[in-house]
Amino acid sequence: MKPVCVVTGAAQGIAFAVCQELAAQGWDVAMCDVQELSKWAGAVEEVRGLGADARAYQVDIGNSPSVAAAAAAIDKDFPGRVKGLANVAGIVSRTTPGEESDDEWARHLNINVVGTARVTKFIAPLMAQAGGGGIVTISSLAARFGAEAAALCYTAAKAALIGMSKQFAKMYAKQGIRSNCIAPGPVQTPMLDWDEATRERFRNATLLKRIAVPEDIASAVAFLLSDKARHITAATLDVNGGQYVGS
Ligand SMILES: NC(=O)c1ccc[n+]([C@@H]2O[C@H](COP(=O)([O-])OP(=O)(O)OC[C@H]3O[C@@H](n4cnc5c(N)ncnc54)[C@H](O)[C@@H]3O)[C@@H](O)[C@H]2O)c1
Repeated sequence: MKPVCVVTGAAQGIAFAVCQELAAQGWDVAMCDVQELSKWAGAVEEVRGLGADARAYQVDIGNSPSVAAAAAAIDKDFPGRVKGLANVAGIVSRTTPGEESDDEWARHLNINVVGTARVTKFIAPLMAQAGGGGIVTISSLAARFGAEAAALCYTAAKAALIGMSKQFAKMYAKQGIRSNCIAPGPVQTPMLDWDEATRERFRNATLLKRIAVPEDIASAVAFLLSDKARHITAATLDVNGGQYVGS
């Protein structure tokens, strides 16, 4: 039986590319997203076309009962087979840094930070039952040196994920679960709603003179989830074309 990875934010962008990459590498996939299922049925079909048993779950990671229900459904559909979790779902804000309302702060922290904790809380026990596995959480370059084109609440949330990912590594090591984080620079997805001039500025800020495509992040996620990364846990991998070269 193939291992199963739970992927949040799977309807589009980085998470969809993660599902495609995992399918190509022999995983089955539990695709989770807040969007209405009919809107991303095509994405699920594409992943199935790569040979995976891909199933879709409409889940709001900002809401505990919704996450609990999805975890129960995934457990029922793939009993004893959940070996991976890719925490990719997230939201961004372009509010001028420092101008965020209390509501916007609460929404960002609830979805980006608590949402990731929630999903992990419900999925890690399934991984433990399956004998262990890997968690990968998507942070951001913003957490490494401050965002230049996103709000403070986004940077704060993404910085929190780096610490939380390390703590997951400590919490779940005894159950054979590794936890790592990826901090991507700009990636060409629907979230990157910049004009061409901004894109050009960011492209020039990388050593490699390019903006990532979702597949660049997906291959790193698949590696960290694989047995080839069996000795890697509590790490943060920068995937940013050399835009940031700090520690
Ligand atoms: N695109 C970039 O430049 C970039 C850079 C660094 C980090 N990231 C991070 O990568 C992740 C994916 O980004 P992307 O560019 O693919 O974004 P995207 O907006 O294209 O996709 C995000 C997905 O998450 C889903 N989602 C949002 N809120 C949700 C919720 N409450 N419950 C479940 N699903 C929800 C959306 O429906 C969407 O399908 C995000 O966490 C983002 O912060 C993106």
